[in-house]
Amino acid sequence: MNADLVIAGSGLFGLTVAERCARDLGLRVLVVERRDHVGGNAYSETEPSTGIEVHRYGAHLFHTSNERVWEYVNRFTSFTGYRHRVFTVFKGRVYPMPINLGTICAYFGRVMSPDEARALVAAQAAEVTDPRNLEEKAISLVGRPLYEAFIRGYTAKQWQTDPRELPPEIITRLPVRYTFDDRYFNDRYEGLPTGGYTAWLERMADHPNIEVRLGTDFFDLDAAGNVPVVYTGPLDRYFDHAEGRLGWRTLDFAPEVVATGDFQGTPVMNYADEDVPYTRIHEFRHFHPEREYPPDRTVIVREYSRFADAGDEPYYPIDTAADRAKLVRYRDLARAEKGVWFGGRLGTYQYLDMHMAIASALTMYDNRLRPHFAARGTKG
Ligand code: FDA
Repeated sequence: MNADLVIAGSGLFGLTVAERCARDLGLRVLVVERRDHVGGNAYSETEPSTGIEVHRYGAHLFHTSNERVWEYVNRFTSFTGYRHRVFTVFKGRVYPMPINLGTICAYFGRVMSPDEARALVAAQAAEVTDPRNLEEKAISLVGRPLYEAFIRGYTAKQWQTDPRELPPEIITRLPVRYTFDDRYFNDRYEGLPTGGYTAWLERMADHPNIEVRLGTDFFDLDAAGNVPVVYTGPLDRYFDHAEGRLGWRTLDFAPEVVATGDFQGTPVMNYADEDVPYTRIHEFRHFHPEREYPPDRTVIVREYSRFADAGDEPYYPIDTAADRAKLVRYRDLARAEKGVWFGGRLGTYQYLDMHMAIASALTMYDNRLRPHFAARGTKG
């Protein structure tokens, strides 16, 4: 094998490590990717009949307050001025999300000052002091009325489980804003890659020292010998599930081309009612109002959530107490594995936003990879 470093997985974690090691250290990097495209879950593609960019693995909105990450990503793409906003339907009415003063005034049907709203929610939340399940925990944070409208049905659909049977630890906080600010993210920088995600991701891999081998499973690779490895696939898979499987939730996406220029007037509409089977509908044209898309057709994607089986894409770690106990044992195994570094959301069993995956890859590069290769005299 003609590589100084093998990277399993071409998501944002793997690509950041590959780019830094190739460009900064001059290493020959082999990236192996099981799928037929680079970019991991941030990958997007053009829906052929409309030309609309669709995020294949769920909507991806870039946001960060990390100056270093913002400077880094701008080397590969510029970003639009997109600002994410989400609405939710409950019992035939539409409300802004996350819960803010606009949601509270609309739901209770009267004008409230921030102090009045805060006092109302605090009084309603005082009903529960010692939460023993997710429902009680949510009520202790936002009170029963807001919980029953905006949290109960949505959470039950996300977990396919009655919230009274879910552990309270699943939520630590529920954001409530006592202003009319309805922006979804609080970060300093936000936007979508001007030329699309795939152009950004391919640009990161575009270096003569980087070879990307698509459609190749790391575990089918001929022995890597002594070549160091950065592994960003599922942690439990690496060890043949020796400590048992880590639990994940997955999503099913149902795309549809609809004969209208605008289906819902906004990119993301949540559905809080339990009798609506999907959790949300994305309408991808609204992520890029600056683009020329057809006036008479649009792409919508309904999203359904469930527990992942062995063959499903792992999306969100479930992170029960049993998962955490397994994770501790897997981390011990990972530490003992010489010449292999584990990273990314699958390799560490953590939900990471894109900016967090990039930041953590840059940290691994600074603290582990660069010193390792410097000690070995750069190459070999
Ligand atoms: P990622 O999963 O992207 O990449 C891992 C790669 O490894 C995959 O391509 C996989 O095929 C490959 N692989 C695994 N095993 C392999 C093997 N054995 N051999 C070869 N290849 C292998 N973030 C954000 O900032 N804003 C957002 O709006 C969203 N939205 C969002 C929606 C949904 C539904 C999810 C699940 C996630 C998000 N994210 C997000 C998070 C974002 O997707 C995440 O930050 C990145 O995927 C992290 O990149 P990684 O490289 O860690 O993993």
